[in-house]
Amino acid sequence: MKNIASIILAAGEGTRMKSSLPKVLHNICGKPMLEYLIDNVNSLGIDKVIAIIGHKAGLVKERIPGIRCVKQDELLGTGDAVSRARAAIVKDNKIDNVLVLYGDTPLLKKETIQRLIEKHVSSGAGCTLLTAQLKNPTGYGRIIRSSAAKIVKIVEELDASIYQKVVEEINVGVYCFNKRALFFGLEKIKPENKKEEYYLTDTIEVLAKANIQVESVTADDPEEFLGVNTRAELGKAELVMRKRILEEIMDKGVTVIDPNNTYVEQGVEIKKDTVIYPYTFIEKDVKIGSNCAIGPFARLRPGTVIGDSVGIGNFVEIVRSTIGSETKIRHQCYIGDTSIGKNVNIGAGTIVANYDGKEKHKTVIEDNAFIGTGTILIAPVKVGKGATTGAGSVVTRNKNVPAGKIVVGIPARVLNKNKK
Ligand code: UD1
Ligand code: CA
Repeated sequence: MKNIASIILAAGEGTRMKSSLPKVLHNICGKPMLEYLIDNVNSLGIDKVIAIIGHKAGLVKERIPGIRCVKQDELLGTGDAVSRARAAIVKDNKIDNVLVLYGDTPLLKKETIQRLIEKHVSSGAGCTLLTAQLKNPTGYGRIIRSSAAKIVKIVEELDASIYQKVVEEINVGVYCFNKRALFFGLEKIKPENKKEEYYLTDTIEVLAKANIQVESVTADDPEEFLGVNTRAELGKAELVMRKRILEEIMDKGVTVIDPNNTYVEQGVEIKKDTVIYPYTFIEKDVKIGSNCAIGPFARLRPGTVIGDSVGIGNFVEIVRSTIGSETKIRHQCYIGDTSIGKNVNIGAGTIVANYDGKEKHKTVIEDNAFIGTGTILIAPVKVGKGATTGAGSVVTRNKNVPAGKIVVGIPARVLNKNKK
């Protein structure tokens, strides 16, 4: 989509979040809200993307490398925010239309945006916006239509009369503008409302009065339109996204025993016939092979890659580690910065001490090793192929266990006999 530019508004503080973190950087299933919008516009093939940043601009900019950012120094409203992108867009002759998105509507689906753009292009309207019918429209701008059902304006909750407040059609906050219509509208809006802000929504009335066509696309899944303004709404968005992620995983042939009590973040890949037991937390970008059993009560943190037919049981935490196929880690273990080979048995209560108070170190456990119950492995350390550690042994740093040998005790020493 070469002739469309996208402006994403992300300058607001998000006062109602009561947070020191800018609102758009709050995570939903392990990914900042703003990134969901950027992923959407990228996947639609929109090359020209401009983020409007303001509150803690440095922090926001850092999170979206490669995206052109324009600063809004004073938060004078959504209309003012869009005006900041004027210079970057107006003179670009390739651009005919401008897609405006708000950084706090992360649940929006790319198919919906696509539908909006298609309607906009085919109707040749000055603006096409997304609306939804909500039983409880509180907090959203209301769409006001004429008796002929034409959109005449949008009224914000704070400025709405009691008659306007009962309108159930709301402004989702997604717009596709003809470039000229957008900047024509923005020049005419005034901060004449309760908040004394320049509202982007006021451009609609300007266009309607100038007989410039305003169209709408109505979508019926209210979950998509949730604007995240409070922690309660953040919680709701998390629930919706979690459900979507689990449905996607189940669709690929994974069994999730209890979807209400399973937490899987963005970017996780799980292959078919793996079973996830309840109260398992799988953090972002973790990879799991096929035919595994994970949980209940397992926590897999970023950087974890698990092979096929692996068993990860209750109260096992794994971070930045690879686990080879057929390996079993079934009860109360901590595995960090470790590379574990194939067909390894990690006994109950095994702990990898990867952190010495200053730095993290690596541990290697090779194929077919048997780590006895309650072993502590002090990194950096290596357990060779087929080696065994006795129950309760403490394998100290750099005291590598030779392949095929048995070590026991504290500190662990090689038993003077070959492994049976
Ligand atoms: C806005 C819409 C409302 C709509 C709702 C949908 C306006 C005036 N109102 O209300 O009609 O129903 O979204 O969720 O547009 N922002 C800036 N600079 C500013 C102000 C805001 O970048 O000066 C950004 C915010 O960071 C946020 C987005 O714009 O990402 C929307 O602002 P917000 O204050 O949340 O608007 P709402 O009151 O939710
Ligand atoms: Ca909002």
